[in-house]
Amino acid sequence: MPKDLRSFMAALDQMNPAGLLRVQRPVSRDLELTAVLRRLQEDGQYPAVLFENVQDSEIPVISNVLANPESLALALDSTPDQMLWEYIAREDHRIPHRVVQNAPVQDVVITGQDIDLNRIPICFNCEKDSGRFITAGVTVVRDPDSGAHNAGIYRLMILSPNELGMSYEKHTHIGHIHRKYEPKGEALPTAVFVGHHPACMLGSQSKLPFGTDEYDTMGGLLGEPLDVVKCRTIDLMVPAYAEIVFEGYTLPEVRKPEGPFGEFTWYYGLERYSPVFHVTAITYRNDAIFQHLFAAHPEHNYTGKLGRESILYKRVKSVVPTVRDVRMPMSGICRFTAYVQIAKEYDGEGKIAALAALASDPFVKLAIVVDEDVNVNSDSEVLWAVATRTQPDLATFFVQNSAVSRLDPAAYSIWNRVEKDTMNTKWAIDATKPIEAPFEDRADVPREMWESLNLSDYIAGW
Ligand SMILES: Cc1cc2nc3c(=O)[nH]c(=O)nc-3n(C[C@H](O)[C@H](O)[C@H](O)COP(=O)(O)O)c2cc1C
Repeated sequence: MPKDLRSFMAALDQMNPAGLLRVQRPVSRDLELTAVLRRLQEDGQYPAVLFENVQDSEIPVISNVLANPESLALALDSTPDQMLWEYIAREDHRIPHRVVQNAPVQDVVITGQDIDLNRIPICFNCEKDSGRFITAGVTVVRDPDSGAHNAGIYRLMILSPNELGMSYEKHTHIGHIHRKYEPKGEALPTAVFVGHHPACMLGSQSKLPFGTDEYDTMGGLLGEPLDVVKCRTIDLMVPAYAEIVFEGYTLPEVRKPEGPFGEFTWYYGLERYSPVFHVTAITYRNDAIFQHLFAAHPEHNYTGKLGRESILYKRVKSVVPTVRDVRMPMSGICRFTAYVQIAKEYDGEGKIAALAALASDPFVKLAIVVDEDVNVNSDSEVLWAVATRTQPDLATFFVQNSAVSRLDPAAYSIWNRVEKDTMNTKWAIDATKPIEAPFEDRADVPREMWESLNLSDYIAGW
């Protein structure tokens, strides 16, 4: 059987302690479901949770599928300390998708007047959200020129029984493709699939160049071809082993308000006039499972982390070949802060690495560059390097009026720093030691003596 959400749930079940919990009592999709996830978060717990009985729906809901590093690594058959390298290797080894004729995701097909989005257990997440949002749906469109499938995750608010408001940032590839259709007054064939093996969600977050077929990237990350089937009401392919698919069109020149919405910044994204996705069919598997993602919660941050770390690594490496490791830490919500570790060869190289990191992705606001001996998995190690290896006025620089994420709560407009918009000042800290000038050595025991030392050889009962 091809990999899918169900095979991944089976793998989560095998984790120790179990990576998948089950809630059997009835739960409301409006705030109560996210309250359970929020409570777990307060206790430092991030297992996947299957809500078997969601009120007013026959479809169960799974959430938190990628909410911790162990699950993220499992999606790539890897470990948390190796997963970035595994991700990069698989992302660069794309596997062509495969067209099949019969697909479980089309066991049930609903069209026309029978479509009612509220019959799917789409959830209401945060107190001030403007409505119920699909949050773990992968939106797929095809570039009319290259024919390549493009995938991304975009918040989708229920506007009516067959309409979803779709919020994409202008720089996204779907935005580029939609702008090819709009001047001609044509609707863009669009599909959203929900619930597949999470390698597909990770593939949708890849930052490979425009025109790369992201179904093939998903195949690379899965380690096997992605099986796809033709949609029932539009000319587009969708994954055959997804749980649920929404088919339809993104309309030309129509914008409707959606938002506010609790976002990956853990603040609200503002109300916007967003494109409208008109749904022409809902198809799903017998005994389908709906996948939810709590957007103002670490799962959102983790889901986008590896795609962004990959492009950060590749772009810095093209300028500074001595880069050893990179990290987008949770303290920077896996988007706004980049740690870069280099094996520094000459003075000034840390600044070059910092500039490359800031330029690698509009979302990066702060880049901190450290030496090889500083662990980029540890915020406190990085801040220790900042505290002990810098002369702040020389180590730090600022780039004013840079484009940043429109969801940056501190962003300012081009006109002034009070009005809210999508500009901000980026900054960087070169926390590397000088090469040419003397500098203290780190006080330490030789690494080979402690790294693989077995404490049970020294401490009874360890
Ligand atoms: C859970 C989740 C939700 C997201 N929601 C949005 C969104 O609402 N709007 C947006 O522009 N990007 C959103 N993103 C980021 C895009 O999906 C991501 O940048 C993607 O790579 C864009 O596709 P592209 O690289 O082909 O342009 C989200 C990412 C995740 C992980």
